[in-house]
Amino acid sequence: MKRVPMLIDCDPGVDDAIALMVAAQGADLVGITTVNGNVGIDATTHNALAVMEVAGLDVDVHRGAARPLISPTVDARHVHGPTGLGSVEIPQPRRAEASADAVDFICDTARAVSHLHLVAIGPLTNIALALRKDPNLPSHLGGFTIMGGAHRGGNVTASAEFNIWADPEAAAIVFSEMGMLTMVGLDITHQVLMGPAERDRLRAAATPCAVLAADLLDHAVARAGEIRGWSGAPIHDATAVMAVLDPDLFEGDHRPVAIELNGSHTRGMTVIDERPGGLDGRTGSKNNANVLRTVNAEAVVTAITDAVIAVDQQ
Ligand code: BDR
Ligand code: CA
Repeated sequence: MKRVPMLIDCDPGVDDAIALMVAAQGADLVGITTVNGNVGIDATTHNALAVMEVAGLDVDVHRGAARPLISPTVDARHVHGPTGLGSVEIPQPRRAEASADAVDFICDTARAVSHLHLVAIGPLTNIALALRKDPNLPSHLGGFTIMGGAHRGGNVTASAEFNIWADPEAAAIVFSEMGMLTMVGLDITHQVLMGPAERDRLRAAATPCAVLAADLLDHAVARAGEIRGWSGAPIHDATAVMAVLDPDLFEGDHRPVAIELNGSHTRGMTVIDERPGGLDGRTGSKNNANVLRTVNAEAVVTAITDAVIAVDQQ
């Protein structure tokens, strides 16, 4: 089967790291770009390089934006730990970043690689800058999927999900100018919980990648327990990659989605127009997102685990 050519824009990040492993196994991963998000740009770039090295993968990493477009810089160290990868000790990568120009790399790769699927699993700063640089970017892509937003409720605030909240102005540009995107929000990712059973499968596989994923999962499960009282952890970003690799496991519908920029309690919220009736033309708001709603969670959990175990067997 032909593998999807994929470029991942990320901010590793425990779940980003697992997403990179899944993408490297299941897609034709043509490059990685990094963005400030869960931790600062030095750490997210270092972590992407280190994950590729542990996985033995030859994929270039391009450094991107060090700060949001307008918003003050935020992070999610309280979830991902001070380095971004929990308490996992990861070897110093030998390979250096391929460039410090993620935006150029995104624009050039979209033109060079036919049917490229761009997957953004961090704040949308690089993607907004790429759209500013090349407004025709959407026409060069085979698809664009994000992990971000929520149909109802947030994680970082009562109404906002982290990736949107961390750079709402960038998200607003992307939602209004990308044409159509697939939105894998918290409504989906909170259904796909990985726990001790998956951790044990990964550890038993004993490959470098699977052991790293088991260590990361240990951290994620502990934090999900402390923060939410859950016995499993949502591995948001790997779930978004799975939505590209196996879309039949997900269902959604096309909706107009806007980003709230001003609300004192709702900044960074994804406002989904749920009014019935094929909204294009009737309400003046245009469908711009395939909002995923339902997922075969068990199949996605198994597929993520299988993919990580398979990385070292390629
Ligand atoms: C998203 O925020 C980050 O902390 C995760 O890596 C994920 O991309 C979940 O809200
Ligand atoms: Ca992320």
